[in-house]
Order: sequence, then structure tokens, then C-alpha cells
Amino acid sequence: MARLRLRELEEYLQELEVFDKPKILLEQYPTSGHIAANILYTAQSQFNDLENCLVADLGTGCGTLALGAQMLGASSVIGFEIDRDALQTFYNNCQEMELDIEAVQCDVLQYLPGKFEKYFDTVIMNPPFGTKHNAGIDMKFLEIGTKLARKAVYSLHKRSTRNYVLKKGIQLGTKAKVIAELRYDLPQVYKFHKKASVDIEVDFIRFELNS
Ligand SMILES: C[S@@+](CC[C@H](N)C(=O)[O-])C[C@H]1O[C@@H](n2cnc3c(N)ncnc32)[C@H](O)[C@@H]1O
Repeated sequence: MARLRLRELEEYLQELEVFDKPKILLEQYPTSGHIAANILYTAQSQFNDLENCLVADLGTGCGTLALGAQMLGASSVIGFEIDRDALQTFYNNCQEMELDIEAVQCDVLQYLPGKFEKYFDTVIMNPPFGTKHNAGIDMKFLEIGTKLARKAVYSLHKRSTRNYVLKKGIQLGTKAKVIAELRYDLPQVYKFHKKASVDIEVDFIRFELNS
């Protein structure tokens, strides 16, 4: 059973600070408290993949997913993030919520291969989608995630890439299943967004490891 009710989790996560000056090349779109709470709550209540588990959050940013996983009873969470400014916000959020969560400042693609293999029960991530001159980065995050996790990887992917992502999940030796279809509401954080917010259709996918 999850420790917090969904509503309570969402309220806590909505309080968190997000990117002050988001960096476009790093695709710093925050996961809203609403989406984060729902995906984490599903991971715990339907699959028991968080409570008493070792959890990694790849591209943790300001830590919404990492903090939420800890609130739902993960035994330990480590966030991995390339950007120092985002990690400053991550630490502010941990302090504000009185949570003790470790973060490693690193380029996930360079630092993680060959490390922490099968160390974590569960990997959660909202990876860069690979739309900013970094095509394929989402699949590299996924590949690394499947090496780190023993039980499952939870990830968000653009719906337009669904078939490709599910096929890749199978190639990586997982059972891949779309758990929910989400509308990811991007606030107008970047100058090139003309509308106040832009909806992107996103799949929430669980990749189950066979080990
Ligand atoms: C879509 S944001 C998600 C942020 C956060 N996990 C959340 O859910 O709000 C992607 C994150 O990945 C980080 N990132 C991008 N490339 C990275 C890399 N090569 N290694 C580590 N982190 C990276 C970005 O700085 C950003 O914080």
C-alpha cells in the first residue's frame, strides 16, 4: 500500500520549485505535480515498485520524481542530473520537504554505462525527448535504465514514437507496456512558444525486466 494518498502526494509535489531559467538544449521541461503524482502512485499501488525499493531517477532535474518516490516509501533514491543549477533547486526542494536524497551531478550517457548495473530495483525518468539536436537521447536513457534496474523502468515518451519505443523495449529484453496516455502541458517557458501553453501527447510506459 502506498503511504500517502494520491491527493496528498500531488499537493506536496505541486509545492516544489521548478527550473528557474530552463535550458532549452537540455530539454528542461518539468513534470507537473499532477502527472508525477499519478505515475508514481501507479508504480506503487499497481506494481509495488517503489516502497522499500532502491530507486534511480535519470535526468532528475529539480527532483519531482525522486522526491515523490521517497515520499511513497522508497528505501533510497539517487537522482542523476547533468545541470548544477537544477541540482541546486533539487537540494532546496529536499530541504523544504525535509527529505534526505542523494544526487550525482553527471552526464548520464558518459558516467553511468558500466556502473550501478542491476543495483536499483526501479528506475524512473522523464528523459529528454531528443528534439534539440540530440536525436536518440531518449533511447540511450532507456538503454541505460534497463541496465541499472532489476525490476522495472518507468519512462515518458512522445506518443508519436510509440511503436519504435516499444520495439526498442523488447530488443532490450523487457516486457514493455503503455500504462497511460497523458497530455503533458508545457507552460510557455521558452521564447519560441507562441501560445501560453502547449499540450504534448505522451505515453507513460513500464518496461518490466525479466530477471
Ligand atoms: C524533461 S527534463 C525532466 C526533469 C525532471 N526529471 C522532471 O521530471 O521534472 C529532462 C532532464 O534531463 C536532464 N538531462 C539532459 N541531458 C542529460 C544528460 N546527458 N545527463 C543527465 N541529465 C540530463 C536535463 O537537465 C533535465 O533536468
